[in-house]
Amino acid sequence: MTGHGDPIKMTAHKSGPLRGTAEVPGDKSISHRALIFGALCVGETKITGLLEGEDVLDTAKAMRAFGAEVTRHGPGAWSVHGVGVGGFAEPEQVIDCGNSGTGVRLIMGCMATSPITATFTGDASLRKRPMGRITDPIALFGAQSYGRAGGRLPMTVVGAHDPVPVRYTPPMASAQVKSAVLLAGLNAPGQTVVIEKIPTRDHTERMLRGFGADVSVEQTDEGQVITLQGQPELVAQEVAVPRDPSSAAFPVCAALIVPGSDILVPGVSQNPTRNGLFTTLRDMGADIEFLNEREEGGEPVADLRVRYSELHGIDVPASRASAQIDEYPVLSVVAACATGVTRMPGVHELRVKESDRIDAMARGLEACGVRIEEDEDTLIVHGMGPGGVPGGAICASHLDHRIAMSFLVLGMAAQNPVSVDDGSPIATSFPIFEDLLARLGATIRREI
Ligand code: S3P
Repeated sequence: MTGHGDPIKMTAHKSGPLRGTAEVPGDKSISHRALIFGALCVGETKITGLLEGEDVLDTAKAMRAFGAEVTRHGPGAWSVHGVGVGGFAEPEQVIDCGNSGTGVRLIMGCMATSPITATFTGDASLRKRPMGRITDPIALFGAQSYGRAGGRLPMTVVGAHDPVPVRYTPPMASAQVKSAVLLAGLNAPGQTVVIEKIPTRDHTERMLRGFGADVSVEQTDEGQVITLQGQPELVAQEVAVPRDPSSAAFPVCAALIVPGSDILVPGVSQNPTRNGLFTTLRDMGADIEFLNEREEGGEPVADLRVRYSELHGIDVPASRASAQIDEYPVLSVVAACATGVTRMPGVHELRVKESDRIDAMARGLEACGVRIEEDEDTLIVHGMGPGGVPGGAICASHLDHRIAMSFLVLGMAAQNPVSVDDGSPIATSFPIFEDLLARLGATIRREI
């Protein structure tokens, strides 16, 4: 969908203790991939726990447009009858990926080695985001792309008729870029190789293997070398999507900064390429227990018990950036409520997310009375200690779900209410956010 309808102003008020169980939705990265990989199989892939946020629903629509049969059977229960590797049909209409960078970039990769043409667009946020990071590598396979200035959407991709395999080192740490190249490599003969200097989330490698592809990963002096054997026959699977650690981050951080809180967040993925935030929070003094550690749907998961904690600022290692890249907005809120300074280096990729997240958090936190320093690659938050953030501001969400949710979490612990000008993007990744926080005891009001 393009745009999110009318803006919805939301305000979070200072909260009493948060208590209870927070069942957060399915993982967004895995949900997109389950639909896409299902579409690349012959046979029926059955999915449970799918995130039914707008981003993923847009990917479901896109897979239908490329010829797959995608059916919803009940809450989170979906099936996909795929068309096989190289079997994508040419869509009749423009593919609208809404707010989703993951959706559009992975799908561009998938179709880039099929002899079809597709045009992609998205909402005002997605139309600002760089697509050159995808069009550069897919050109090596033989695909052509025609977009707006600066490699922006809308963009038409003409898939390669005779794709060649590729050896590619992404210039930035990006799971979307790695995944787009591997997905393009599926329909190229021979071996496609991606060399990652900094490892990023590994759902594509894990899931492709689960669907029957031959994917190997080797640590070398060059970095992590991922090798895919092209033209496999992918085999339909049953996929149980674990709960999203990036969504769990919001109730977890809220409980840590609202005095007296004690909550349980069950079944959260603890994939080591995704769980950096929990390590960082513990380094800051957070009381988080990992209970009932187990494996679900091929991913390590745990139940998190989180209690209010008096936190202190730290120097967050830059090497942890990719394992918590989506969590910096809410981490900066926690840092504002901690005692002392928190330095977050190595975060330049935040500038090209759904919004420029360094700028969005810096301006909103300043409006709430917090002292911030920033440069191109670093965010520094001067913590005001428990109960010390004045709040009382309206913060701009810039069509970015995680910015909106982060400021609402701040409002639960600040002295005065904190508003966001538009909370509607929350529906892209966490449609039950308001209900879930309300059940824990938080007060978030919509203002008409
Ligand atoms: C994602 C990769 C990350 C992340 C995004 C989801 C994925 O983006 O921020 O929310 O599912 O591959 P980058 O690849 O741009 O780092």
